[in-house]
Amino acid sequence: MIKAIVYLTNTGSTGRYSEMLSEATGLPAFSLKEAAEHLKLNDEVFYLGWVMGGRIKGYNRAALRYSIVGACGVGMNLLKEDTAKMIKEKTGITNPSIKVFYARGAFDMDRLDAVHQVFIGIVLKKLKDNNGDKNIIKLIEEGGDFVDRANIKAAADWITGHNRRFI
Ligand SMILES: Cc1cc2nc3c(=O)[nH]c(=O)nc-3n(C[C@H](O)[C@H](O)[C@H](O)COP(=O)(O)O)c2cc1C
Repeated sequence: MIKAIVYLTNTGSTGRYSEMLSEATGLPAFSLKEAAEHLKLNDEVFYLGWVMGGRIKGYNRAALRYSIVGACGVGMNLLKEDTAKMIKEKTGITNPSIKVFYARGAFDMDRLDAVHQVFIGIVLKKLKDNNGDKNIIKLIEEGGDFVDRANIKAAADWITGHNRRFI
């Protein structure tokens, strides 16, 4: 039975989705740091992490402590049919029973630290040099916020369905 939502956020949008999931499921939401105080080793959790370079950040760290039964990546890209599958593969999640979701978050250059600003600068240059997605270039340059309760509904329903089996 899933005991909690555990998350890692950089600029806040993954944290906001975690709070929304907490409200929808009645489970507590803890940042990866806070979770150590509240959860036991191998407790079942649902994990949310922001996406960097196609990977769900913090997943491996969380998986060392907890039994992750489902996860959600939060990124800036539009949700496509294969997004969840791609981030699952890139994160290195090979267990087929671990369900992975994707939700579109927010991007705000001003909220990034210097290191991540450099990283995203490299991404931006690559996109421009290779005639990449104009909408993503605009999003990186101007920022945008796509956090919406509707984007997390599938994950909330899945968690509720999962835990119902234990009642
Ligand atoms: C260095 C860097 C790399 C990123 N790489 C991706 C990516 O590969 N795919 C994606 O969808 N979003 C990517 N993003 C966007 C973030 O995942 C997105 O802004 C997310 O909502 C941030 O979540 P947070 O507000 O919880 O930190 C990247 C952002 C940064 C700063």
